[in-house]
Amino acid sequence: MHSISISDAAALLRAGELVAFPTETVYGLGGDALRADVVAKIFETKQRPTFDPIIVHVTSIEAAQALVLGWNKTADFLAELFWPGPLTFVLPKREIVPDIVTAGLSKVAIRMPAHPLAQSLLKEFGRPIAAPSANRFGHISPTTATHVYESFGAAVAIIDGGSTTVGVESTVLDLSEAIPRILRHGGITREQLAEVLDQVEVATSSTTLPSAPGQLPQHYAPKIPLYLYPFGTVPSPIPGKRCGCLLTTGRATAGFNVTEILSEQNDLREMAVNLFAAMRRLETQAIDCILAVKTSGDGLGAAINDRLTRAAANVY
Ligand code: TXA
Ligand code: MG
Repeated sequence: MHSISISDAAALLRAGELVAFPTETVYGLGGDALRADVVAKIFETKQRPTFDPIIVHVTSIEAAQALVLGWNKTADFLAELFWPGPLTFVLPKREIVPDIVTAGLSKVAIRMPAHPLAQSLLKEFGRPIAAPSANRFGHISPTTATHVYESFGAAVAIIDGGSTTVGVESTVLDLSEAIPRILRHGGITREQLAEVLDQVEVATSSTTLPSAPGQLPQHYAPKIPLYLYPFGTVPSPIPGKRCGCLLTTGRATAGFNVTEILSEQNDLREMAVNLFAAMRRLETQAIDCILAVKTSGDGLGAAINDRLTRAAANVY
């Protein structure tokens, strides 16, 4: 796999092409956010349904404000605390943002990524970059350049920045109502937000669906069935099946063909960093199914359990 330079990547973006680049969460499949034809190419390349809106990446608060109408005190306050970083704001969009970016919704999702290569690319390009995770729709998000290459081959130029350091996607937070609402759990935890805000809500899937159609139940799914077990349980292999085991922590039990342990130290950050790569390794083994065990729902565990639940949704 060949890695391209920031300047070559910026030139491709200026020419209306797509570029995969690292962020601290997962790799993004980026294109000029202000060109509807380019954003259409993102949907096409990802095979993503056009009802699923895309996050726009910026490098300054001014650049974010140029895209939204309702930038408010909470946005200022949270940007001060958590930007650059894995927190995405949803706010009413300005007309300059093409409708295809927001899948026709009146609000746009924006974030300022912390990864130095993402920042360099944004600065060199000088315009906002629309970027979903650089995987085919519904599959596991990429945390290395090789993962991106596995999805798109040579069809997409990649900036290789090694492994990502957060491992799960950004937290998506709707700031357009009086009470901030988490639409997707991610790298900034509910606890971190609750500590600094008077109130924060978590959208239930039924309230999420109309405003964030991307929160589909089946997502982040490996190519083989994944069965999910509650926190603290010890699964046994299913008789007659070749089973892989995905543990967030603990020790391997006998009878599995392969076991992945995300963090022997029971460290949620380490689990998040390892989650998607472990799911990808498991799906390429000669096994019939994956038995996975949830972590506690605290802190980053909410995002980890959310991704595991969506990965399992294809078999229930
Ligand atoms: O960490 C991340 O957020 C990564 C990196 C590349 O920045 N991006 C990412 O993008 O995860 P994607 O497209 O895989 O997920 C974006 C999520 C989806 O669940 C989508 O529904 C939601 O953000 N979203 C995007 N625009 C929205 C909007 N206008 N309103 C509500 N939800 C939105
Ligand atoms: Mg994604």
